[in-house]
Amino acid sequence: MKAALEAIQEKARQALEGAKSLAELDDLRVRYLGKKGELTAILKQMGGLSAEERPVIGQLANSVRTCIEGLIAQRGKALKQGALTQRLATETIDVTMPGKAQRLGYKHPLSIVLDEIKEIFLGMGFDSAEGPEVETEYYNFEALNIPQNHPARDTQDTFYISDKIVLRSQTSPMQVRIMEKQKPPIRVIVPGRVYRSDTVDATHSPLFHQIEGLVIDKGVTMADLKGTLEVFAKLLYGQDVQVRFRPHHFQFTEPSAEMDAMCFSCQGAGCRLCKGEGWIEILGCGMVHPKVLQGCGIDPDVYSGFAFGMGLERMVMRRFGIEDLRLFFENDLRFLGQFA
Ligand code: DAH
Repeated sequence: MKAALEAIQEKARQALEGAKSLAELDDLRVRYLGKKGELTAILKQMGGLSAEERPVIGQLANSVRTCIEGLIAQRGKALKQGALTQRLATETIDVTMPGKAQRLGYKHPLSIVLDEIKEIFLGMGFDSAEGPEVETEYYNFEALNIPQNHPARDTQDTFYISDKIVLRSQTSPMQVRIMEKQKPPIRVIVPGRVYRSDTVDATHSPLFHQIEGLVIDKGVTMADLKGTLEVFAKLLYGQDVQVRFRPHHFQFTEPSAEMDAMCFSCQGAGCRLCKGEGWIEILGCGMVHPKVLQGCGIDPDVYSGFAFGMGLERMVMRRFGIEDLRLFFENDLRFLGQFA
């Protein structure tokens, strides 16, 4: 048994000194010291030894184990050191090499104009909020005074997810969500994506962007609406832009209007851009309908307010002379790079 132990120690020594990797070293550890290892196998036979032999062999077995453990640790250290030296040799960094140039991305044209619009309204004391694109029928229509079966629903070809859930067809539902949560005074704009089941062409997309606005306080009048939106148009299009308000109809405002800006291309004479009109429609607006206020728990005898909504894509197209709306969503870098 003594001879067998000494043979194991010698065999282990040779094998460990030849180990070429940490993985190989670990295999050897299992082979010699593991539960099913060679040393353990010998120790299992100790039961057959005499009382005098047992402590002698036991001591020897312990010293063989200690010896092998020491060899493993030593070899492990050497292998790690070797690996590190090799890595340091191959991974040298040449700090004089030219760096890789990082190309900066560009702001999307929709973001450029949206940021300008936000900046204008934030400057006038508005907050900016966002809301869910998956909306309930209640917020998208009902709470905005557009009851079931009302023809106004037909003008917005809405995507239905289920009976009561839609992809919002306008940002106006956020008016209601905000008024339900917040006590007046309220001054907020809500930019966001809206969806309508339109066929894609140069001026239509099933996904587009709107910017909603809402102002509620005591004593807010149509004059405040006109003043605010006129200032907005001048800050966005330049001080000499002229605007006009035309009567219109929306279910959730009374009275309602549309605001036009004088065509910047022909100064009102009529051209291709304004389709001969001399004016270009910018947004829909109006005084928030008393029914809508009431539904949100705001007393229409105490508070009043105005709202407006505009489509972002058309403003950006006009601004940059873009003739096809599809370009906004194709992510062609040749197009996007022009707005750097
Ligand atoms: N939600 C309307 C639309 O999608 C736009 C609109 C008109 C919003 C008048 C308003 C508003 O807030 O007062 O056509």
